[in-house]
This record gives sequence, C-alpha cells and structure tokens, in this order.
Amino acid sequence: MVTNSSVERGPTRPEPRSLARRALVLGTALLLAGAGVTALSGTARAASTLGAAAAEKGRYFGTAVAANHLGESQYASTLNAEFNSVTPENEMKWDAVESSRGSFSFGSADQIVNHAQSRGMQVRGHTLVWHSQLPGWVGGLGASELRSAMNNHINQVMQHYKGKIAAWDVVNEAFQDGGSGARRSSPFQDKLGDGFIEEAFRTARAADPAAKLCYNDYNTDGINAKSNAVYNMVRDFKARGVPIDCVGFQSHFNSASPVPGDYRANLQRFADLGVDVQITELDIEGSGSSQAASYGNVVNACLAVSRCTGITVWGVTDKYSWRASGTPLLFDGNYSKKPAYDAVLTALGGSGGGGGGGGSAGCSVSYSKAEEWSDRFNGRVTVTAGNAPISTWTVSVTVTPPQKISATWNGSPTWDSSGNVMTMRPNGNGSLAAGASTSFGFTVMKNGNSSAPVLGSCTAS
Ligand code: XIL
Repeated sequence: MVTNSSVERGPTRPEPRSLARRALVLGTALLLAGAGVTALSGTARAASTLGAAAAEKGRYFGTAVAANHLGESQYASTLNAEFNSVTPENEMKWDAVESSRGSFSFGSADQIVNHAQSRGMQVRGHTLVWHSQLPGWVGGLGASELRSAMNNHINQVMQHYKGKIAAWDVVNEAFQDGGSGARRSSPFQDKLGDGFIEEAFRTARAADPAAKLCYNDYNTDGINAKSNAVYNMVRDFKARGVPIDCVGFQSHFNSASPVPGDYRANLQRFADLGVDVQITELDIEGSGSSQAASYGNVVNACLAVSRCTGITVWGVTDKYSWRASGTPLLFDGNYSKKPAYDAVLTALGGSGGGGGGGGSAGCSVSYSKAEEWSDRFNGRVTVTAGNAPISTWTVSVTVTPPQKISATWNGSPTWDSSGNVMTMRPNGNGSLAAGASTSFGFTVMKNGNSSAPVLGSCTAS
C-alpha cells in the first residue's frame, strides 16, 4: 500500500529567484540558437527529439540500423527525425564485408554510412574483430596467416571508411561470462593468445588515427568478474600506452538481467581510467512504466558520468529488434512512441508533449533531488508552462521497485495499481502564465535503491 499523506511545505513557486533563472535559461538558449545548436521559439523550449535533447547535453543518441529497412518510409523518417548517430547492425561484421579471404564487399554498409553522412549523423563502426559472424575460413588459418588476415581485415575496412567513423568497436566480446575473468575461446584467442587484442588496437590506430577506438562487451554493465577483467585490461592498456579511447557497454537488459544498481558506478570507474564510455546496444525487454523507468535510469546514469559520450539503442522499432518478442525498444511496431521513449526524452531534458508548437498550451518538467537521508530522499519536480498560458497540467513520476513514495506536497496525486507510478496534478488552481513555473515534492523510501525517479512528459491544457 502506498501512503500519500499530503504535507504542505511552504508556498508554491515562483519565487523571485526563478525569474532570474528563467532569464539565464533564455539567455543561454539564445546563445545556443545563435550557434546553430538548437531551435527555439519564444520562451526557452526543450528539445523534442532524442538526438536534439542528447545534443543539448553534449551527447549523441543513436540506433542500430539495418540497410534493408532504409527503404521503408516510416523506418527512415523515424530514424531521420530522432537519431543523430547510427551503428550498422550487421553490415560491417566480418562475414558481411569479407566473406572470402581478401575479397571485400561494402555495399550494404556504404548504404548506411551514406544515409548517415548526408544527414549529419555520426557512425559507430561495428565491429572488426569478433568471434561471432566470422566466416569459416578465418578459423581454418594457422597462427601466422590468421595474424596477417586479422591485420589486413582491420586495415582494409578502416581505410575504406577512413574519416567517416566516429568510433570503432575494434574488438567485441573477447571475455568469458561468469566468474573466471578469462578470455573467451576464439580463433584469435586460441591461436594468437591474449596479445591479439593489443595488436588489433595498434593496427586500428595506424589505419585511421582520427577514429576513436573502443572495446565493446556485454554483461559488463555492472561491477562483476567479467567487467573487472575488462577493467584490468583497459588499465593495463592505458599504463602501457596501447591505444584505446573508449569502452562500449552493450546493455542488453531483461528481467533475468536487469539494469544493475551499480551501473553508474561501473561506467564511472572506467571513465576514471581515462577512456570515454558509451552505451552501445541498449535494449530493455518489457513494457509500460517499468520498462520506461529502466530506460530512464540508464539515461540518468550516462548523464551522471561526464565521459559517457552517447547512447545507442539496438534498433528503431520493436518489430525489427533481434529480440522482437521482448518489445525492448522505444518505438512499437507501428512506430508509435512508447512510455520508454517519453522517459528517455524527459531524462535527456527534452519535452515531447506539450512543450512545443507556436502558442499552443504546453509545459515541460525538470527534476531535482532535495534532502537525502540514509533510508529516503525528497524529490522536487518543477513544471514550467510553455509559450502560452495553461490552466492545468499532469506529470507522471515513476519510481523503481522496491522504492515507494511515502509522502507528497503541493500536488494532488493518483496512483497506478503497482504503486510505482504517481500521476500528479495541481492541488487547486493549476493555471500558469506563459513561461511561469510551479513545483511539487515527494519523499521516496529507498528500500535499498537510490535511483532517481523517472518523469513522464508534461501534458497541459
Ligand atoms: C546481433 C544483431 O542484432 C542480429 O541481427 C544478428 O543476427 C546477431 O547479432 N552483440 C553485438 C551485436 O555486438 O552485434 C549483436 O547484434 C547483438 C549482441
């Protein structure tokens, strides 16, 4: 049972400082607009797409793309509207570009790179050296032939795309699952030994010195034996001057493998080694508010780590996901935005619902944490009207189980059946002048989880 005793605390905003703050926000917005960074009108208005909202946070928001869907108009229009980075889902893998030795075919990958380049999107190269989707002939080579085939593959592929790839996953999934911390068996590992990873990175640096070079893996998202092993490798590379710029965390999540509680801490410890971190293949199986909350937690974790430079989701629409039955993405099979989409956009500081559109009623929301104790913290949500007055507003706040909201103030809450999703409406008169703000607060009992709540977008009328 959720208790939601309403405790009034102090007057509603706006307080005098908020005027000065709005002026500051507006000033900053004009500066950004002058620099061509973002489109704004009237009052400072939140970005309304994933890519634009991420860009305002100094990050990219990308998706995996399959060349054979680019001709589908809704696929292309969703991609073009929302994302500013792409990763070819399969088209740059070894079996796609060099299925027989020395004979390279780049057609499908070129299609994706051209699509991205002509629209100002960046490209993550995925992937050069991986045990999977590897043509059989590679495994048949002896050690010295394998070494030269690996280096030739890296050279040919990277030179073909030289100057066009922001970051390459040079080596993918080289470590074993479980507690051993060992390298995974593969033709490279078995014939060349541990040194193959270092050799691949050195070859890659020489082939395209402008590309960031990443190590990418899964089940390394939290602090565990596998991520410790990767961490030790990266620390060793940095200590010895082996070229590595970034670590990718695939972040394929589901109920058996949820977003780890120490996700942010894990990203941070890698960043502290002096590499960028990127969330490279994000998908989270599930639906509705719980999926949305997990997505919000992932975005918040990245935003909390200054060297987390971007997030890529592993596909545009649930219907083409490699895990389609788990509906793990931000758009459903009809390209409708899911609650997870709203959670991501809001966490990025954007606003999908009401923020926009020339004088129509709208609002945006922001969250800040106030007091914190060992067992609980207070959150505050500020609701700001868009460029037109509003008479009322609605915002949802989702907490991550087993968290519970134990008190609220300056708002009138209702709850969904799980008790995790609170829908807040004004306590009394909800009207706000254009650009004006109000705020409400609540107490979250942590029950062991300190994640920030996830806001839905603000709706207004
Ligand atoms: C997956 C693709 O999404 C599928 O279409 C393909 O059949 C198999 O590979 N880790 C990776 C990605 O690094 O390349 C994988 O992509 C998913 C797991």
